[in-house]
Amino acid sequence: MTTAAPSVSSSLSQPPSDTPTAQAVSTQETAKSTLPTSVKVCEMSQNVLATPKVAETPSPSVYLSNRGNSIRQHQGILQEGYVQYGMDKYHDTDNPDGIINMGTSENKLCYDLLHKRMTKPDMLHIDPSLLQYSDWRGHTFLREEVAKFLTHYCCSPNPLKSDNVSLYAFVQKESFILTRRYMYAYWMSCGVFLVVDAILIPTPFYGVITEDLHLYSDVKLFHIPLDCEVGIQSLIYLSLYIFLQTGHLFQGLIIRAVILMNPHNPLAEIYTPEEMIAFLEFAKRNELHAIVDEVYMLTVFDESVTFHSVLSVDSLPDPQRTHIMWGMSKDFAMAGIRIGTLYTENRDLVEALAQLGSFHGISGTTQHQVAQLLQDREWISKEFLPENRCRLKAAHSYLTGELHDMGVPYLDRPAALYVWADLRKYLKESSFEEELSMWRCFLRHKVVLSCGQAFSCSTPGWFRIIFADQQHHLQLGKSECYVRTLHTFELFSPTHLFSCSLS
Ligand SMILES: Cc1ncc(COP(=O)(O)O)c(C=O)c1O
Repeated sequence: MTTAAPSVSSSLSQPPSDTPTAQAVSTQETAKSTLPTSVKVCEMSQNVLATPKVAETPSPSVYLSNRGNSIRQHQGILQEGYVQYGMDKYHDTDNPDGIINMGTSENKLCYDLLHKRMTKPDMLHIDPSLLQYSDWRGHTFLREEVAKFLTHYCCSPNPLKSDNVSLYAFVQKESFILTRRYMYAYWMSCGVFLVVDAILIPTPFYGVITEDLHLYSDVKLFHIPLDCEVGIQSLIYLSLYIFLQTGHLFQGLIIRAVILMNPHNPLAEIYTPEEMIAFLEFAKRNELHAIVDEVYMLTVFDESVTFHSVLSVDSLPDPQRTHIMWGMSKDFAMAGIRIGTLYTENRDLVEALAQLGSFHGISGTTQHQVAQLLQDREWISKEFLPENRCRLKAAHSYLTGELHDMGVPYLDRPAALYVWADLRKYLKESSFEEELSMWRCFLRHKVVLSCGQAFSCSTPGWFRIIFADQQHHLQLGKSECYVRTLHTFELFSPTHLFSCSLS
């Protein structure tokens, strides 16, 4: 695919206009320039399905079935980095020369707040029902609490129903369910699912979806390469073109669903209510299930920006085909607690998921703790969220300040835990091999990042950098990684970079 012109938005807090970050291009302009390439889009979307192999694949085991071998041999693009990271994790005192992880989307800024709240006496509670088998969709008390929580924080016009909430411990994974005439399924992270056959997804996107689909299913993702700066409108236009060309068919499979993350991962983009309605209308017109992943909804750290959940819409265009995911991992900085939720009015789907619930149920005691936490509005609204926002904002501004000083363009967005940085100008040639060698170079310099191809980005040279970590880690990551790597890539003088202020 011919990519749209390189463009990175700037903002008030951003680099001055003489830096590359100032080349703002409006969504509409980019959308227009992208449209004529839609034929190539389809070719591209098939090519990018194959995740490049980065490490030696283990030879097949005689003890495993074909399916077992295929799962064991599956290697994600970033796996080699995480294997090395696992063996050599940075630690302030025990391993100060270890690898800094700026690749995993985790919020490490609020442990003190969480520790204080999670060790309060109300968290320590045991009763028989918590130790026994329960409703696999989650205990009623927690589903009610989640429904109230979402009603409040998503500004739902009417109280959301606890019966539409399904809770699972099984995040980042999917399964299959056969409902009516479709092979449904696909339950990702915060508990979703959907449609076997094929799913439309704009790229770049949270790459674990690709891995999970491969491990759990034969569902295919139909990529719609949107580059990094276009809006939702392009998704709609491009999808229409694709439908005209393919008649809903992709590699012989019927496209049944479309996934959108809001706020987006990795772009950290937030879509407006108008854009979301347009998206939902588009899905309805084409009888597509709309899977909306709002797992970052409370990470918006700029007070002037409001996030609008799909659950705040008065009347959803196609409620039976609209499914919203949320979870504790990002908004509550608790990726280790493993709770995901799915909100859907579709009873068939809820019932089908419940059949799988026994594999993915959440422990009773964890459900109790999460319910206690979610009902503590005082703590959430007056302590945790304001402080979390404040810390995210400071960390974001620190990292983006450093990128700015180094002349590295990036998308300046007001949410999430990461920045999508544009290192294209440092690549000797515009290829994914070169991007991978830059990623490896970062790794050699003890920083693990995520490169664009892990998100199926159609243009080489973009990297996602996590900023939700202590400043001294970001600082270490910076001096070790950017300076030496970019120097290795012969674009910066190390003297210049080392002299950047590390406030
Ligand atoms: C968009 C998106 N959805 C879901 C998840 C998975 O979250 P969990 O840790 O709850 O599985 C992630 C994690 O990075 C994500 O970025």
